[in-house]
Amino acid sequence: MRPNQLVYPFESEEEKSIKIEDRVLYFPAPNENMTKFCFHDLEYFGNENPIYVEYCSGNGGWIAEKAIQDKNINWIGVEIKFKRIKKIWAKIKNYSLNNLIALYGEAEKSTQFLFEEASVSKAYINFPDPWPKKRHAKNRLMQENFIKELYRILKPAGSFTFVTDDEAYSDQTIELSLAHGGFKSIYEKPFYLSNPEDYGASFFDSLWREKGKTIRLHTFQKI
Ligand SMILES: C[S@@+](CC[C@H](N)C(=O)[O-])C[C@H]1O[C@@H](n2cnc3c(N)ncnc32)[C@H](O)[C@@H]1O
Repeated sequence: MRPNQLVYPFESEEEKSIKIEDRVLYFPAPNENMTKFCFHDLEYFGNENPIYVEYCSGNGGWIAEKAIQDKNINWIGVEIKFKRIKKIWAKIKNYSLNNLIALYGEAEKSTQFLFEEASVSKAYINFPDPWPKKRHAKNRLMQENFIKELYRILKPAGSFTFVTDDEAYSDQTIELSLAHGGFKSIYEKPFYLSNPEDYGASFFDSLWREKGKTIRLHTFQKI
């Protein structure tokens, strides 16, 4: 399958609603009629295996590799750009990944509307856009509200892992995650690993490593 074979299922603004089709979950925009989904539902995965979510999946290189390696996990890749969802979908089809769903939607809003409380075992945020300019930092995904949402959807002792090459984003996320009060870092001060081995490769991971940048990996566990 080629990415271009995935066709957007809605023709008009009015028609848009949550829809699952061929392992893509469309979450166009929230509205008051929406009810929360339960990803344990047999309709989506056909089993009750643990759910791991990756946010900002890009073209899905990292999550597809994980889904191939670990079939006992139900993986969900969240991505806001349809062009990239198409690439994730092509991987799902080409590797017959029945344990991976591509969620086309915005990370915080889709989490708020689609995920039940304590339904996710692990979350990963790999190289989210860093918005390096100070005046743009408010656009970063890792803000107080999103961290609260992560806390809500994670199971007891569940964790989220955040990976970035951006020092300021790393520092901000450490500060916010510890300030939340419901998370502890599994790494001692400075609360991250530098250039982790064997984490899995993604487009941006490879790019930044080639350019000699230092990658920081943080994991915060629900207390
Ligand atoms: C720098 S790329 C990283 C992609 C991939 N994780 C990697 O390591 O190659 C950031 C990705 O996050 C997506 N993204 C940005 N903001 C998002 C949001 N609020 N919700 C979902 N995806 C988002 C972008 O479209 C882009 O694909």
